[in-house]
Parts: sequence; C-alpha cells; structure tokens
Amino acid sequence: MYKVLITGGAGFIGSNLTEYFLSKNYKVVCLDNFATGHRHNIEPFFQNPNYTLIEGDIRDLEVCKKAVDGVDYILHQAALGSVPRSIKDPITSNDVNVSGFLNMLIAARDAKVKRFVYAASSSTYGDSESLPKIEEVIGKPLSPYAVTKYVNELYADVFSKTYGMQCIGLRYFNVFGRRQDPNGAYAAVIPLFVKQLMNHEAPKINGEGNYSRDFTYIDNVIQMNELAMLTNDAEAINTVYNTAVGDRTTLNDLIKYLKEYLSEFDIEISQVQPIHGPNRVGDIPHSLASIEKAKALLGYKPTHTIDKGLKEAVQWYWENLK
Ligand SMILES: NC(=O)c1ccc[n+]([C@@H]2O[C@H](COP(=O)([O-])OP(=O)(O)OC[C@H]3O[C@@H](n4cnc5c(N)ncnc54)[C@H](O)[C@@H]3O)[C@@H](O)[C@H]2O)c1
Repeated sequence: MYKVLITGGAGFIGSNLTEYFLSKNYKVVCLDNFATGHRHNIEPFFQNPNYTLIEGDIRDLEVCKKAVDGVDYILHQAALGSVPRSIKDPITSNDVNVSGFLNMLIAARDAKVKRFVYAASSSTYGDSESLPKIEEVIGKPLSPYAVTKYVNELYADVFSKTYGMQCIGLRYFNVFGRRQDPNGAYAAVIPLFVKQLMNHEAPKINGEGNYSRDFTYIDNVIQMNELAMLTNDAEAINTVYNTAVGDRTTLNDLIKYLKEYLSEFDIEISQVQPIHGPNRVGDIPHSLASIEKAKALLGYKPTHTIDKGLKEAVQWYWENLK
C-alpha cells in the first residue's frame, strides 16, 4: 500500500486527511512540530500500525529528508496560517511557509516522490475584485501570509519545470469542520463563533457583517486532496485548483445559521446577539470560487454545501467542546 507523508498532520486539515487515508489502509507519516497542531488531534491514530509520527520542524532540511524516506506521495499542509499572525510577525511566517516549503520541495525532489500536493490559499487572489475567482486571474497579495502562499505556487511551478516534479496546489477557501481549533488569538471564524455562542458570549463580527466567504467543509477538501494525489491525467498535473464549494455566505448569515443549529442543543443560544467591530486590515470584502476547473480536470463533486457542513460541524463541537 502507498505511503503518504502528511506535513502539519497534527493540525486541523492534516489530522482529517490522516484519518481518511488511514481508513483507506494507506501508511501515513505525520511531520509536525506542534506549533499550532495538537496531540489530542492525533492520539486516536497512535494505536494504528500504519501510522508514524515524526515530531520535527520543516525549517530543518535534515528533518524533511528523514520524513520523506520511502514516501510515495506528499500532502504538504504544514504552515503558519492566519493573515493577522503574518502581519504581526512576517519573518516567522516567511521562514515556515516559504523556507520550510522549499525544504519540503527539495526533500521531495531528492526522494523522487510521485507527487507533491500542497495547501495553497485563496488569499493569493489578493486585491482582485473579480467574482467568481478563477485560477488564472489573481491580484496583488494583501498580507505577508498571502505572499508566502503565492511564492509556494511559484516555487512548485519552477520545480515541476526545472526538475520534472509533479506538483498540484490546492487553493483552500475558508475551510471548516471537526477538529478546527476554536482557541488562541488566531482562531478561524467558524470555530470561534461556535465556541462563543456555546458560552453565551457575543461573537464579534469585523465590520457590518456583509463580507462574504466561500466556506468549505473539510470533507470537500479531503476529496480534492485524494483526487489531486491520484489523478493520472497529465493535463491535470502541475497546476493549481480552487478548493471550495462555489457558493458564498455573509458573516451575518453565518451567525444566523450557527445560532439556529446550536439552538437545537441549547435554546438560550437563540438569544445571543453579535457585536460589530471595525473591518480587519488585509480582509477582502468578498470571496467566491469558481470550481469549474476542479470539476473538469479532476472530477471534483463537492459532497457538502455550507449548510450540510455547518450542521455536522456544530454537532461535532457540541459533542467535543462541552
Ligand atoms: N483552514 C483554512 O481555512 C485554510 C485556508 C487556506 C489555506 N490553508 C492552509 O492549509 C494548511 C493547513 O491549515 P490548517 O487550517 O489545518 O491549520 P493548522 O494550524 O491546524 O495546521 C497546521 C499544522 O502545521 C504545523 N506546523 C506549523 N509550523 C510547522 C513547522 N515549522 N514544522 C512542522 N509543522 C508545522 C502545525 O503545528 C499544525 O499542526 C496550511 O498550509 C494553511 O495555510 C488553510
């Protein structure tokens, strides 16, 4: 059976990918330094003989080389996420997201892995206002984080042309779902709102709440990783794909849905009202993906609308955060 290296495997997306590929009997190696990932995300895998954890940092090339030993595919998720984090500390974001990425590419090239699939980002669309976002039309980055994710795409492209590697970038759009961390200064909006509503605290919306996002449930992201990893279509390789649903939801509507679904567990949550603060630096007003390229070249069929995903996520948070 194939061996897959999942970097950032103790994080939100990485641990979900791990769970999926172990369930399909792949051998999975996780490389993570626990900067933002958690041991509790991966504890259930420790008993599985097909699972190996390497605790280490992608900024260390020797660690990357060790992790790719005997690996067929790489799903590279390790990075420091969050636009505000990168604005506060661009040097560390760059070290991890660019130098660490380059280390992983070098290690993958030298180990002759079959394919390098990596987490790109919708932030690469930057200040482009065109909607829906199509892969070929990007704007200028609006944050250090966006720069790092765009540089990833440039490096992957150069490595495929220069060294004949097979790389695919998945531009994730606001992913959410089970195990996404609700804690910390840089928590993503859905788990943060869920936690606040469960505690009867007012969620804080940056701005008036009419900004919208293409919120994407984790199962759709898992599907995209599997399709990208296994496609044999030469046309589908060495490119990037929007990884999204192709629908957008405003923050006000997001709160409305979350309140509705959480109220089924605790009716008092229906009374909690959000508060509004200023818009955040580096935030674009609207984000909506075209998913036509992924449908046409990879056969992508999202299984979860935002609605279906939110219901499943809320259920998970209710069972696991209480
Ligand atoms: N969640 C989203 O909405 C979203 C959107 C766009 C792109 N992405 C990208 O997807 C990937 C996964 O994001 P996530 O939401 O699961 O975040 P996460 O923070 O839960 O996971 C990232 C993982 O990488 C690990 N990591 C960080 N620095 C490392 C280092 N130097 N060496 C080894 N491991 C390191 C962390 O400990 C963590 O386990 C990231 O590359 C992120 O930029 C996520």
